[in-house]
Amino acid sequence: MESYKPWEENKPDGSDLVLDKVSFSWPCGTKALDNCSFSVPGPGLWMLVGSNGSGKSTLFRLISGMITAQHGHICCKIKPALMFQNPDHQLLLPTCGSDLLLSLPRDLTLDQRLKRIQLALEQVGLGGMESRPIHTLSGGQKQRLALAGALVSEAKLLLLDEPTALLDPFSQGIVLKIVKELCNRSHDPITALWITHRLDELNYADGAARMERGRVTEWSAGHLLLKRIKPLAGRRV
Ligand SMILES: Nc1ncnc2c1ncn2[C@@H]1O[C@H](COP(=O)(O)OP(=O)(O)OP(=O)(O)O)[C@@H](O)[C@H]1O
Ligand SMILES: [Mg+2]
Repeated sequence: MESYKPWEENKPDGSDLVLDKVSFSWPCGTKALDNCSFSVPGPGLWMLVGSNGSGKSTLFRLISGMITAQHGHICCKIKPALMFQNPDHQLLLPTCGSDLLLSLPRDLTLDQRLKRIQLALEQVGLGGMESRPIHTLSGGQKQRLALAGALVSEAKLLLLDEPTALLDPFSQGIVLKIVKELCNRSHDPITALWITHRLDELNYADGAARMERGRVTEWSAGHLLLKRIKPLAGRRV
């Protein structure tokens, strides 16, 4: 069967995300992005792999607008939301429901807010946990709550920076499947850019690329990239 190649689809109205010759150096002089050009055409689960220090997290900070490139252009047509490796770095309030309230758009009625929170919790498998204290959640549940926060904020581009690095294989699988389903659903699919050091996750990717010395290489099918880089595992990919 011909594999799904979303990056080859014709996008007459432009891609969701385009980086054009983007360079960024930190104030200390470290060049993290070096003339980096790539695009994410549309919805799907897009994965990036690369060795430590290759510029992946810096790339996400640039896309989300936390920092600004010194050279080049970034055009992001959809609302981004960042998700970190450690959900404790982004969950702020005592209960699931109160934390999600923070991420909701401001112009909603109380009823709309409650419905959106309910739906988002259901979408990540935490249905009915509105009043559950966050400190009682497992690591995997916290990561799913962070995901619900991105969903209620109406973000359409999820920037996931090693979201499963701290999870056990069971919780890793759950988070991966939820994001994959959100990316591939027929109604209102989202776009996810997922950084991973866990090479087996590439099997779930709709497209995958390597990041090397501040640049992103061409997209290919996840399983094909896995085949190419698996022999290098243990060395710097
Ligand atoms: N806040 C910062 N100040 C100065 N230098 C930084 C900062 N953040 C990152 N860097 C440097 O930028 C380069 C790219 O770092 P970045 O964190 O983007 O890499 P990464 O690919 O995400 O690595 P890892 O896989 O370890 O998470 C590194 O040399 C790093 O030391
Ligand atoms: Mg990083």
